[in-house]
Amino acid sequence: MKIRLVRDDDYPEIARLRRQTIRHVNSKDYSEEVIESWSSKIGTKNFRGSAETCKRWVAVEKEKIIGFCEHTFECEVSRMYVHKEHLRKGVGSRLLEVAEASLKKQGCKEIHIESTVTAKDFYEKNGYIVLEKTLYKGNTKEPIYKMEKRLFKDTNS
Ligand SMILES: CC(C)(COP(=O)(O)OP(=O)(O)OC[C@H]1O[C@@H](n2cnc3c(N)ncnc32)[C@H](O)[C@@H]1OP(=O)(O)O)[C@@H](O)C(=O)NCCC(=O)NCCS
Repeated sequence: MKIRLVRDDDYPEIARLRRQTIRHVNSKDYSEEVIESWSSKIGTKNFRGSAETCKRWVAVEKEKIIGFCEHTFECEVSRMYVHKEHLRKGVGSRLLEVAEASLKKQGCKEIHIESTVTAKDFYEKNGYIVLEKTLYKGNTKEPIYKMEKRLFKDTNS
């Protein structure tokens, strides 16, 4: 597996991957209504339109994109999705490592995420702590977790 920065011609594939992952992976934790709304909301055009507002990477295996993640310029990991057939092989952790290194380079002292219920254990495993359990965009029922990881300077840097 290789991790590289996203290219413009990756967007149709990552939009499809995001849709599939929401429908097949997040669907165990959220209502049908929310899954439908999340999965249909963001397509190729939307990814292209937000390209300047974040930094994005893709994980590639045998020329196929098997995961992607992005961070904003405000010390936040904003999206992280792994293909349903490539879960639990370390793809998400590798992507997160790259995003964290990039945020550290930008001077972030801590990293924030709004995690799905689905990804909470994954982020905890990667050193994040829950700050607050809250509701997705004020929705009455759908929980998400505000999480944080503190970054410390290398003692020998
Ligand atoms: C969260 C996600 C990105 C994790 O990707 P992944 O490549 O499967 O994660 P990794 O293989 O790097 O997992 C590392 C560790 O995290 C923990 N972990 C990962 N997924 C887990 C799960 N579903 N349940 C419990 N622990 C989990 C495990 O400790 C795992 O180590 P192990 O497999 O040796 O036990 C993936 O499940 C996903 O795309 N989920 C749906 C989309 C989503 O909710 N994204 C987050 C938006 S904020």
